[in-house]
Amino acid sequence: MTRQGIPQAGNNLDPWYDHYAARAAGLRASEVRALFAVASRPEVVSLAGGMPFVSALPHDVVTDAMSRVMTEQGSVALQYGSGQGIPVFREQILEVMALEGIRANADDVVVTTGSQHALELVSKLFLDPGDIVIAEGPSYVTAMVIFKSYQADVEHVPMDENGLIPEALREHIARLKADGRRIKFLYTIPSFHNPAGVTLSRERRLEILSIARENDILVLEDNPYGLLYFDQPAPDAMRSVEEDGVVYLGTFSKTLAPGFRMGWALAPHAIREKLVLANEAAVLSPSSFSQLVISEYLSTADWKGQIDTFRGVYRERKNAMLAALEEFLPELSWTDPAGGFYVWLTLPEMLDSKAMLPRAVKELVAYTPGTAFFADGSGRQNMRLSFCYPTPENIRLGVRRLATVIQGELDLLGTFAGTGPLDSPVDGRRFGAPPPNLS
Ligand SMILES: Cc1ncc(COP(=O)(O)O)c(C=O)c1O
Repeated sequence: MTRQGIPQAGNNLDPWYDHYAARAAGLRASEVRALFAVASRPEVVSLAGGMPFVSALPHDVVTDAMSRVMTEQGSVALQYGSGQGIPVFREQILEVMALEGIRANADDVVVTTGSQHALELVSKLFLDPGDIVIAEGPSYVTAMVIFKSYQADVEHVPMDENGLIPEALREHIARLKADGRRIKFLYTIPSFHNPAGVTLSRERRLEILSIARENDILVLEDNPYGLLYFDQPAPDAMRSVEEDGVVYLGTFSKTLAPGFRMGWALAPHAIREKLVLANEAAVLSPSSFSQLVISEYLSTADWKGQIDTFRGVYRERKNAMLAALEEFLPELSWTDPAGGFYVWLTLPEMLDSKAMLPRAVKELVAYTPGTAFFADGSGRQNMRLSFCYPTPENIRLGVRRLATVIQGELDLLGTFAGTGPLDSPVDGRRFGAPPPNLS
């Protein structure tokens, strides 16, 4: 239903149906969110969510940091603070970013309520209705929810195993410009991509930065997973080579714990000033308590050693997932991430990951359908599998169940096509492998 041609956000059981702003139409429960409810049942192996494995963080280390903060700086921790964030904490954030080649000034860091909030603030500053955000295809669901809530259109540019394809980016920009569209920024997750699991090569980082510079397009570099590599570090952050054209987003959610809700933006000076004002307007100040506890943790605990521990946990789980895919679904194709939380799986052409999901949940396994990661509804032939949270044993069990579901779907299709059910279940070798494909 529309009011003056504007799609409305609610439904007609909602008495405020007619009152919502047009921008609220973009706010719909994502597929990931709807899944959390079902997938959190203990008997379901969830390969759907992206929850960090916080049990690998010794909780007493956090408790000690909290209690020292309360004893020594309790009245600061419990008080409002600066809209930009505590200066000492911003200095420590520089040390974290230095691990990915970034040299910056603490004055250009803005502390936010997770990097999610930094995404919201940047969108608020830059996006008008009808603007274009260029993003990888697929891209991070909840960033796209924000872009849509500012009534911007997301334009996907394809990736391959080395990340975003520069020639495709050039073509898309040229076409959008020829159509008179206003491109506000390129949103990119260059390292250990969510959901594709791929990493942008060093050469492509440079090339993409120069394309953005030539076309006067700001780059929004979102880097929650960069330090969670398995063997080799990712290439240095894009921000390490380009200061003026990049807004860089970081977070403590994956290297420490998301419960603190602490992230940051590093921005060119003029943008930084506006970000602080937008942060103050939204939350007055980011949590003083969380900042001081993380600051204490960074100065007293072995935080680099803890990141190593997380790497070990996720490496083992990624290996378990790839081994299970090899064992149970050997004819399918998937990405082999060098870090992060996710594998992107490509199904045989005739299958639809979204339609298949209820049957998967019935078989007690959950995943995120590829369609969640595209603004245009494509991605039916793909799914995102997360290996961050379940144990290696459960990952194997989950993939085995998934193979049963996929085989069941293929048998059903075979029946309807008149060829009869295919033979025994869980034998992936009977269907042809589609080509590697991220779109
Ligand atoms: C690509 C990406 N960006 C941003 C976020 C938000 O992280 P947070 O707000 O916890 O820092 C996530 C969380 O999963 C993510 O995957």
